[in-house]
Amino acid sequence: MFRHDIIIVGGGLAGLRAALAAKDADVAVVSKVHPLRSHSVAAQGGINAALGSDDRWEDHAFDTIKGSDYLADQDAVEVMCRDAPHRVIEMEHLGTLFSRVDGRIAQRPFGGAGFPRTAYAEDRTGHALLHTMYEQAQRNGIKFYEEWFITRLAVKNNRCAGAVGYNIASGGIEGFLAKAVIFATGGYGRIYRRSTNSIINTGFGCAVALRAGTALEDMEFVQFHPTTLFGTNILITEGARGEGGFLMNRNRERFMQHYSPQMLELAPRDIVARAIQSEINEGRGFEGGYVNLELMHIGERNIKERLPGIRQIAMDFANIDPIEMPIPVQPGQHYSMGGIASNKDCTTSISGFYACGECSCISVHGANRLGGNSLLETVVFGKIAGENAKDYASSTGFPDSDIIERAVEEEKRTISNLLGREEGEVFFKIRDELKDEMDEKVGIFRNEQKLILALGKIRELRQRFRNVYVRDKGTAFNQELVNVIELDGMLEISEAVCLGAIARKESRGSHFRTDYPSRDDENWLKHTLVTLTPEGMKLDYRSVNVTKYEPKPREY
Ligand code: FUM
Repeated sequence: MFRHDIIIVGGGLAGLRAALAAKDADVAVVSKVHPLRSHSVAAQGGINAALGSDDRWEDHAFDTIKGSDYLADQDAVEVMCRDAPHRVIEMEHLGTLFSRVDGRIAQRPFGGAGFPRTAYAEDRTGHALLHTMYEQAQRNGIKFYEEWFITRLAVKNNRCAGAVGYNIASGGIEGFLAKAVIFATGGYGRIYRRSTNSIINTGFGCAVALRAGTALEDMEFVQFHPTTLFGTNILITEGARGEGGFLMNRNRERFMQHYSPQMLELAPRDIVARAIQSEINEGRGFEGGYVNLELMHIGERNIKERLPGIRQIAMDFANIDPIEMPIPVQPGQHYSMGGIASNKDCTTSISGFYACGECSCISVHGANRLGGNSLLETVVFGKIAGENAKDYASSTGFPDSDIIERAVEEEKRTISNLLGREEGEVFFKIRDELKDEMDEKVGIFRNEQKLILALGKIRELRQRFRNVYVRDKGTAFNQELVNVIELDGMLEISEAVCLGAIARKESRGSHFRTDYPSRDDENWLKHTLVTLTPEGMKLDYRSVNVTKYEPKPREY
């Protein structure tokens, strides 16, 4: 059994920032991949902060709250936006090479923002930030357990005692006894097929937390990024539109003028994604289902200086050089607004258990996240989670190790049962059917009939999962076993998304119901909570924390 004051699950930006904040304690990061392969590395366009004297954090907060369709908790948004300039300058001092204009950190316009406040490092901002953070973690001697997959939390009397890990390299199962556990496990985007997310983003951390007794919050709010590369769904950054890119339909019409006359291509993502999907659905897209993103007019120099990453992606994956030709784009799943119900100090309903980053729902993004606020959330709330877990750990002793031992025994039984099954269904058929169902029926446009069909299908897949078997019986790098364990969680998460979406009879942010096309503050200005009961999943609600920004119609 391993023993640390604090274990942090997830080696992306939120997890590493938490580790840095807690470095004076005995802290270890447990990650199922090498930390530099965490999904934060894929973030492109930038990180928001009111840096200049002509911008204000209060304006950033207002844009975020309006962008969230007034579902974000305003006290938490204030924490994030007030702290943003400090965290960005801190990253610069720690070594991140931001792009610069006239010697200052460069900032570009992003969707839904009233000011160009997205700081960037070309179009590889997540890469630059994650490498800086990893260097700092190494410099500070943070202990890492790489390729360890956390499969369950150990909780007794509502106190977290640590977690159980599966060693992907060797097949061993071990306990991690800890005074505090922080989850920074990322989002659940890969329950969809068309997604910008890396394949590790299965939402398993959310499933583990749900099973341990926390609620999941606002799971129905799934963000679809407007511009993913047609065919592969690799992210084509919003920064491309921030730098002046146009969206064109097959009639070479700049169609955003019909959907957002003021903001055009820089309306918030939910609006632009719906606009593109409407153009495609109504026959004004191109064969196969895409529209064009034109960058030619912004010039070779700007593209090479500010958007080299997406140029390379377009050339490598579509054989298109955006200096000369438009990029074919379509919406794709991009971000999970929902997650582990967490407070603005990153605590959860379980003592000693914290959450930050995309796996958490604090909630700073509400029904629709603004681009550039995700990287920001990781560094603001990663720091808060690390500091608070450190304080908690210094005020308490280690929990009894027998809780962990029992959890390890249970996990060993579960895995040996899975490996002992000699016949049944292969996992990927169930996973493929799940993804198709989520794409088709729980996507950008939803309605009751489709959602109910999707829920029925998910429940059928959950039944079939009981009969799944693992063909690879090996111990070293048994990726099939990891996939099977994760699929169980993906099915649970998908059910939670569907339940929340069926119940929410309104349209708000990313959740658009064609049968209830308007926002309904009277009945639905509230957060959805899903918990697990012996009878299955149960829905509950809690009110939104409103400080000074009164909900108003959302016009752009
Ligand atoms: O478009 C982008 O670069 C994505 C940014 C974000 O999700 O924050």
